[in-house]
Amino acid sequence: MLFSTLVASALALASTAAAAPSPQGYGKSDSLYKAMRSRGRSFIGTALTIRDNEPAEPKIIKQDFNSITPENAQKWESTEPSRGNFTLADSDRYVQYAKNNGLQIHCHNLVWHSQLPAWVTDGKFDNRTLIQVMEEHIKVLAGRYRGQCTRWDVVNEALNEDGTYRESVWYNTIGEAYLPIAFRLAAKYDKHAELFYNDYNLEYNNAKTEGAKRIVKLIKSYGVKINGVGYQAHLASEATPTAPGAAPDQKTLEAALRATADLGVDVVYTEIDLRMNTPATPEKLAVQAAAYERVAKSCLAVKRCIGMTVWGISDKYSWIPGVFAGEGAALIWDENYNKKPAYKGFLKGIVGR
Ligand code: G3I
Repeated sequence: MLFSTLVASALALASTAAAAPSPQGYGKSDSLYKAMRSRGRSFIGTALTIRDNEPAEPKIIKQDFNSITPENAQKWESTEPSRGNFTLADSDRYVQYAKNNGLQIHCHNLVWHSQLPAWVTDGKFDNRTLIQVMEEHIKVLAGRYRGQCTRWDVVNEALNEDGTYRESVWYNTIGEAYLPIAFRLAAKYDKHAELFYNDYNLEYNNAKTEGAKRIVKLIKSYGVKINGVGYQAHLASEATPTAPGAAPDQKTLEAALRATADLGVDVVYTEIDLRMNTPATPEKLAVQAAAYERVAKSCLAVKRCIGMTVWGISDKYSWIPGVFAGEGAALIWDENYNKKPAYKGFLKGIVGR
């Protein structure tokens, strides 16, 4: 009896070994979002620009992701290029894509200082009229996709690095009240979507993270709904000219997430990419894999971290090299859509062993 139990265990071990990752270290049936769901969290997403010339992308999305964020299609300059002239065909495609494929959609974004057309920035609107402009925009966008956006980034990047408010047409004209006003309007036109404040460099648990806490408290103090904070996580996996300090250690990442989660909101990594000095080498790819692993682990360590989105699929199309000269290779598939060590690191961090 004992002997047969031993044999059975040995066989079980052998079959586990047979199903173990392929020589490159990836199992064929690996799935980021399934691993995340099995940990009781909600989603793993990718930023998406629909490209009809890349057949690998829909396959990867099907296998690994259950959420998308339209990379550019819903931004103000694309959706309302002149006042009252709404151009929504592109945005509609993303919402339809999510629907057709049973995916969550993290809608991005309603109020931002960037990719904002000149008619808003230089319009010299007074307080009352600018609020009206904001309402017209939110009414059309949030209203059109009512009940279809899983989450909305309501306000994007309102903070300076020292935690003070960024000077923008919104802040300069309306003052800090523009934040609760935007959230109130988003809730008015789509009561179903989860409403997020989204920013970068919140991951260091520093003055900027404090700024995000202040925003959550401010919005709540107006009696307005805010469901979560998005930590973009555009980080460097090693020291680079633009980021002398590499991605924070795990303790710091966790503390940064808890800083706002402890105020009773969800937290999400909304735009993860971990860049390096290019070209990539096996050593740098290993360092990057470890950084992806600790970012994932930090999310899993915080109860209210409901999901994570990476900012694109392949290094081929990442925004990084265009903005940070000499840096790149920031995503988890390489330019030929091969999984990088970072894929495995990320998955390992999600699975937790
Ligand atoms: O579509 C035009 C094309 O017609 C034109 O020929 C070409 C020439 O430059 O530009 C194209 O637009 C570009 C657009 O991406 C689409 O590819 C813009 O120039 C370019 O500025 C824009 O960059 C985007 C960037 O946001 C703009 O701020 C990136 O793709 C996008 O990844 C990036 O995403 C942001 C998030 O929304 C917010 N958080 C930071 C993150 C990274 O910057």
